Amino acid sequence: MSRALQFELRLAERMSRLGTETAFEVLNRARALERQGKDIIHLEIGEPDFDTPQNIVNSGIDALRAGWTHYGPAAGLPDLRQAIAEEVSRSRGVEVNPEEVVVVPGGKPIIFFSILALVDEGDEVIYPNPGFPIYESMIRYVGGRAVPIRLREEKDFSLDLDELAHLISDRTRLIILNSPHNPTGGVLSKRDLDQIAEAIGDRNIFVLSDEIYSRLIFEGKHHSIIAEPSFKDRTILLDGFSKSYAMTGWRMGYGVMRPDLAVQIARLMTNSNSCTASFTQVAGVEALHGGQSSVEHMREEFQRRRDAFVAGLNQIKGFSCRMPKGAFYVFPNVTGTGWKSKALAEALLEEAGIACLSGTSFGEFGEGYLRFSIANSMENLDRALEKIKQWVINNPV
Ligand SMILES: Cc1ncc(COP(=O)(O)O)c(C=O)c1O
Repeated sequence: MSRALQFELRLAERMSRLGTETAFEVLNRARALERQGKDIIHLEIGEPDFDTPQNIVNSGIDALRAGWTHYGPAAGLPDLRQAIAEEVSRSRGVEVNPEEVVVVPGGKPIIFFSILALVDEGDEVIYPNPGFPIYESMIRYVGGRAVPIRLREEKDFSLDLDELAHLISDRTRLIILNSPHNPTGGVLSKRDLDQIAEAIGDRNIFVLSDEIYSRLIFEGKHHSIIAEPSFKDRTILLDGFSKSYAMTGWRMGYGVMRPDLAVQIARLMTNSNSCTASFTQVAGVEALHGGQSSVEHMREEFQRRRDAFVAGLNQIKGFSCRMPKGAFYVFPNVTGTGWKSKALAEALLEEAGIACLSGTSFGEFGEGYLRFSIANSMENLDRALEKIKQWVINNPV
C-alpha cells in the first residue's frame, strides 16, 4: 500500500509537455497478463531478439577485468571516436574526424542533446509523423513548436517534398529525418535526399538524421544527407550500437557533427552523464573492428521474417501491408477491418494475446495502422498470424 504523502509534488511546468514511448506501457500490460497465466506473443518492443555477439561480450568482460571501470572523457574514448569516424567515413562516403564524434549512452541522448542545444522556445522543428515518439516529446519539452510532416503510404512512407517546402518557415531551426524509418520501414533514397537538400537550400537549418537502423536495409544501400553537398556542417548524424549489434541494454550510441557543436554536446554530457561507461566503449571498438558476420546474419534473418510476416498479414481480411525496406517493423494498413488502431491493438492484446502497437503511438497520422516488431522467432510470428486471423474472423465490425 502506498504511504500518504505529506507534501504535494509540484512538478516544473515543462514536465506536462513531456511525452513517452507507448511500447513500454504495452510491454507492462502484456507482462501483467502473462502473470495471470495468459500466453502473449511479444511484437511490441523494438529490440533485436538476438544476443550481443560473443566477441563483443568477451571484449566487455575483458575490459572490466582490465580496470576500464573509471570515468572517461565526456565525448568518448579516443579509440572509439576514431573507430566511429572511420566507420562513418567509409559507410557514408564523407570524411569524418574523431573530434566530430560524440559517444553517448544510446542513440536517444543525441536526440535530446541536439534539441536542447539548438532549439529555443518558439523555434520550429519539422519531424516525421508517424515517427519515433521521442522527437515530438523532446521538441515540446524544450518549448519548441513541433511541426509534423506526414509520411504517406502511397509515397512508400517517404517525405512529400511539396509539403516539406510548404512547412519550412523563417522559424524552422531543425528538421528531423529518420531512415530506415521507425515505424514504417520506409527508406529515403539518394534521390529523396537530393530533393530534400534542394528544398532546404542554403538556409541555416540543421538536420538531425536518425540513422540508428542504417545496417538494417533489405533493398539497395543506405544513404545519408550528411553526404549531400554543403550538408556536412548542418547535419547531426545519429547512429549507435543498439540495433546493429543487439546491444540495446549496453546503452551506447553516437552523434557525428561539426566540431564546434560536438564540444557543446560534450558539455551536455558533462552536465548529465559525465561519460558513457568505459568498458562498454572498449566493447564498442571490438564491435566495429571485429568480424561483421553476426550483423549480416541478423539482417538476413529479419528479411526472411519480414517476407513471411508481410505475406501472412496480407492474407488477413481488412489488412493490407507494404513491404518495409529497412528496420525490423511491419506497418500494415488496417482500415479495412473497420477498427480504429488503438482499439484494435488493445483488443488483439487482451483477447488474442498479441502485443503490438497502435499506429497512433507514433503520432496522429499513424491512425489506420498497427506496428508489429518482427524481433521474434519465425515460429512465434507464424502463431501470431494465425491468432490475428482467427480473431479478425470472429470480430467483424
Ligand atoms: C528511430 C529511433 N531512434 C532512436 C532510437 C533509440 O535507440 P537507443 O536504444 O540506442 O537509445 C530508437 C529506438 O527504438 C529508434 O527507433
